[in-house]
Amino acid sequence: MSVRRLHPEQPESFSFTGENAAYLQKVIARYPEGRQASAVIPALMVAQSQEGWISQPAIEAVAKLLDMPDIRVLEVATFYTQFQLSPVGRKAHIQVCGTTPCRLRGADELITICKNRLAAHPFDLSSDGDFSWEEVECAGACVNAPMVTVGKDTYEDLTTETFNALIDGLASGNPPTPGPQSDRFFSAPSNGDTSLTDPTLFDGSVIGKYRAFDREELAPPAAPALAAAAPAAAAKPAAEKPIPKVAETQGLADSEKVPEQHKPSLLEAARDGKPDDLKLIAGVGPKLEEMLHKLGIYHFDQIAGWNEMNIQWVDQHLGSFRGRALRDKWIEQSGKLATGWRPSKDGAKPV
Ligand code: FES
Repeated sequence: MSVRRLHPEQPESFSFTGENAAYLQKVIARYPEGRQASAVIPALMVAQSQEGWISQPAIEAVAKLLDMPDIRVLEVATFYTQFQLSPVGRKAHIQVCGTTPCRLRGADELITICKNRLAAHPFDLSSDGDFSWEEVECAGACVNAPMVTVGKDTYEDLTTETFNALIDGLASGNPPTPGPQSDRFFSAPSNGDTSLTDPTLFDGSVIGKYRAFDREELAPPAAPALAAAAPAAAAKPAAEKPIPKVAETQGLADSEKVPEQHKPSLLEAARDGKPDDLKLIAGVGPKLEEMLHKLGIYHFDQIAGWNEMNIQWVDQHLGSFRGRALRDKWIEQSGKLATGWRPSKDGAKPV
């Protein structure tokens, strides 16, 4: 971090113009009584826009205006690099971003132009006093690198040609329009859109027509290996077990229902009459366990073998508990429980 000190040569005095003083009164009025110091940054910004830089008399004037100790205003002015502590070019002070994305996209060449055309060193004035420059850290427009800031404006997507044209425009009082100096719209892809190009995506014509899982290219992933390792008895399907009333897909529009092809293997009864304690799954209580039993789900290895679509098929049958299975990661939890792992006694549950 650079040391920021006041310039050795200071003007005799500073006072706000009538217009700026009136504006600052409005700014100060935004803050509660006794909190006028909150206007210190706007006041310094106005001082800088009036004089081009922040002098000691300007700091003292702001302190007096806001009833603050001089040192408090000095702290703010020297902390923020947006405040210039020495005189800058009459027509422009150009801040060249020199952080990595801008460097990779040509900031070095912009800095070379500054050195050759404006001044050999940062903060030095050009020979005619019209320009100065400095290198700054990321200005937040990396996607349009390289870029420079001039006052409140940014000029982006610069090349050596467009940067030279910018300096020419500033010198003649006719700078180009701020923003990207290429022909792209803000930060839109420079070679045209490459995704989301179907116009029907934006005219509302496909809303509710299909869900992602209806599309072949988004077919569900293969079941985890644990499913293959499950005991043979786990594969015994419940031929056409009817879904009980509690597990109907009430409230779901047809377009929201998960197709039956994604129904996981269900059992008519627990193997050997011994269901696993599904309540060991974090988020599953007696009521949910009962609903799972009614669906034909009794064992951890059944759940561990589900894929993403299986869990969505089951989830739609869980009434007011919809969303729990995904939220609580039942598949991952059951995978651990199926190996014999159990939560610790302090109540910690697997995730
Ligand atoms: S790196 Fe230059 S704007 Fe972010």
